[in-house]
Amino acid sequence: MRIGYHCRLSRTQTLMQLDRILHSQGFGTRKACRALVRHGRVSVNGAVCADPFAEFAPEGLAFAVDGEAWTYRERAYLMLHKPAGYECSRAPKHHPGIFELLPEPLLNRDVQTVGRLDEDTTGLLLLSDDGQFIHKLISPRHKTPKVYEVTAKHPVDDTQIAALTKGVQLHDEPAPLAAAACERVSERVLRLTLTEGKYHQVKRMVAAAGNRVEALKRIAVGGLALPEDLPEGEWRWLDAADLARLWTPA
Ligand code: URA
Repeated sequence: MRIGYHCRLSRTQTLMQLDRILHSQGFGTRKACRALVRHGRVSVNGAVCADPFAEFAPEGLAFAVDGEAWTYRERAYLMLHKPAGYECSRAPKHHPGIFELLPEPLLNRDVQTVGRLDEDTTGLLLLSDDGQFIHKLISPRHKTPKVYEVTAKHPVDDTQIAALTKGVQLHDEPAPLAAAACERVSERVLRLTLTEGKYHQVKRMVAAAGNRVEALKRIAVGGLALPEDLPEGEWRWLDAADLARLWTPA
C-alpha cells in the first residue's frame, strides 16, 4: 500500500522511492528503473504503479516486474542446488558458470558464492551479497560444519574411517586434517563432516585414507540441509528459519 510522502514508519523502515527500490534489487540503473515504472511494467502489492517516485516502506514489499513476483530484501541470501558440470566462478574456464542458473537481478546485485564447490561436485551452495555473512561462513575460525555425501570407488573399510576421523596428512598442509564426523552410510558411501574448506579437501583426504571419491554431494552447511524438494539447477531464497539453522550444528 502506498504511504504518504513524508512519514517514517520507524528508524529502520524509512520510505524509499520506487525507482530506488528497483535499483537496489538489481533491476538496472535508476534511469532504467524509472523507465520500467513509467512503461507500466511494475506493480506493487498487486496494482500497477506508474510513478517512479512513489514511496513505499521497502522491507518485505511485494512487487512484480513484467508479471514476475519479487519481495524486497535488503540483503540477498539464497541457496542453489548445484548440478555437476558447472564452475563456481564469474569467469568460468572449461564449463558453464553457476551464475548462469540465477536470474539477472541477482547477478546485478553481485551475489557471490559462499566458498566454492568443484565443477563435478553437486549439492548445497549458498550465495549472498552480504560480505560479512560470507566471511563468517567460510572463516576457519567459525568452524562451520559442512556435510558431504561421498561415494567412494572402493568399499570403505574401518581403517579408512579411522584415518579420516583421526586425521590424514596432506602434502601441502602443516598438520594432519581430521573430519569432524565420519560415518558409513553403505558399503561405498560415507557421510563426512568438515569444518574447514581447503582446496579439494574431501577428495584429497579420501585419497590419503586409501580410497578415491567417485561422486561428491554437499548435503548440509551448519544445520541447514539441502531441501529434498529443491531440484538440481534450481535456487531459492533463504528465509529466517534457514538462516538460523545455518548457525546451529548439523
Ligand atoms: N571437497 C572437495 O574435494 N571438493 C568439493 O567440491 C568440496 C569439498
